[in-house]
Amino acid sequence: MTNIHDRLLIIDFGSQVTQLIARRLRELNVYCEIHPYQNVTNAFLAEFAPKAVILSGGPASVINEGSPRPPSTVFDLNVPILGICYGQQVMMEVLGGKVESGHGTAEFGRAFVTPEAEKLALLDGWFEDDKEQVWMSHGDHVSKIAPGFEVYGTSPNAPFAITADTSRNFFAVQFHPEVHHTPNGAKLYENFVKMAGFKGDWTMGAYREEAITKIREQVGDAKVICGLSGGVDSSVAAVLIHEAIGDQLTCVFVNNGLLRKDEAEEVITMFRDNYNMPFIYADERELFLGELDGQRDPETKRKIIGKLFIDVFQKHAAEVGGAKFLAQGTLYPDVIESVSFSGGPSVTIKSHHNVGGLPEKMGLKLVEPLRELFKDEVRELGRELGLPTGFIGRHPFPGPGLAIRCPGEITRPKLEILREADAIYIDQIRKHGLYDEIWQAFVAILPVKTVGVMGDGRTYDFACALRAVTSVDGMTADYYPFSHEFLGETATRIINEVPGINRVTYDITSKPPGTIEWE
Ligand code: XMP
Repeated sequence: MTNIHDRLLIIDFGSQVTQLIARRLRELNVYCEIHPYQNVTNAFLAEFAPKAVILSGGPASVINEGSPRPPSTVFDLNVPILGICYGQQVMMEVLGGKVESGHGTAEFGRAFVTPEAEKLALLDGWFEDDKEQVWMSHGDHVSKIAPGFEVYGTSPNAPFAITADTSRNFFAVQFHPEVHHTPNGAKLYENFVKMAGFKGDWTMGAYREEAITKIREQVGDAKVICGLSGGVDSSVAAVLIHEAIGDQLTCVFVNNGLLRKDEAEEVITMFRDNYNMPFIYADERELFLGELDGQRDPETKRKIIGKLFIDVFQKHAAEVGGAKFLAQGTLYPDVIESVSFSGGPSVTIKSHHNVGGLPEKMGLKLVEPLRELFKDEVRELGRELGLPTGFIGRHPFPGPGLAIRCPGEITRPKLEILREADAIYIDQIRKHGLYDEIWQAFVAILPVKTVGVMGDGRTYDFACALRAVTSVDGMTADYYPFSHEFLGETATRIINEVPGINRVTYDITSKPPGTIEWE
């Protein structure tokens, strides 16, 4: 299929904040993709046909032998190019300038850039106060700019903070315009894409139409199965695919006994009542809880759940007969992570539960219509597709469900207690109007019993921990700063209303060093 939208290519050199560049561009309704520099070959460039290119920052030093380079043909594409931090340095080095190492000129953190006499279209709306706050993070610096470049902004430690070769539309900045700490950074991207001639037509309405066409092209008249978790991603994927191919899609929703209070009913009602699509409800609570009973080790729990899920899914998918595709709600951050500069996470912190391995085992091909979207874009698409607002705004819920919120031994009574406490906690958060400010909130039941006193009697019951975090993508997170009143009121409600819990704690660990879930 030909590309309907103009595309911007971000060549990734491994900066921690490359994804933010994509975010800023998407906010401008510009379609972009991030690709690690190793993958950007001449053939790739020809096929991708970018209308503009951004060279990201990165941890390497241009001075070191073997440090990453973009293919030199990128500079012959005759399209605007913006180099950021490492991208700026690599641009200078390749185009005939010079980069040197630190020696007192490293800059980390906030800096102020002041303008040079001449105006640059990239900087429209900048320097209204004669200076701009920017975020620097560099050890090396450009000591000589490449032929054809002029200086348009300087900072105390970066005499070439902003340079450009206006005849070729090449721009190079030493700082990171994509981060929050460069308050006017979005304006710079806006000017850049305007100069490159982007129309800003990457909207959810357009995305929906294109995705539907692509799904139809990919699937033809074959059958597709989709594992529904009840979460936002798989639900949006299912509704979108259903819109594309109707009853060729069958959803399989597995109740593994690890769902939240009333969750199974909510998901079933939502899909049966609103969408009238082929839907298999697999009540496999006994199977999962039987195998998990008494299990303590976090990885063992995850592995058991992952394996059973595959078995169960496979069994029910067979009922559909002849399915050739498996639909998944994979998002863009998952795609980038798996091909990132550093080759993705180097250690397994947790073996994430998904249906990995299933497609090969069942000989299925994948349909992943959300591969190009960030989480909040998926929510927007969900709204566009008419999914109920309350459903779209739901906090993420992990595949292994309550099992990983029950550190220590999993037992049915503990899961029941956890469900009740969690429902009250979420109810409290909603009543106080905080639900949408929080990325994710839940209760974990702790593997300790503590002594309490209720009325005139002694209690000996479980302690629980409340967790609530803010986050952009789940990769890093901060604990949510509830008021003491909120915490006190919630603790009182849980202890009074949930038999089996007599102590409530609040988890104030950020990620890193903690993780969001307890296991
Ligand atoms: P952690 O606990 O690693 O979680 O900080 C980050 C985000 O991922 C969710 N999570 C999972 N989601 N399968 C999922 O689908 C999993 O195995 C899994 N483990 C964690 C977690 O809820 C949080 O949103």
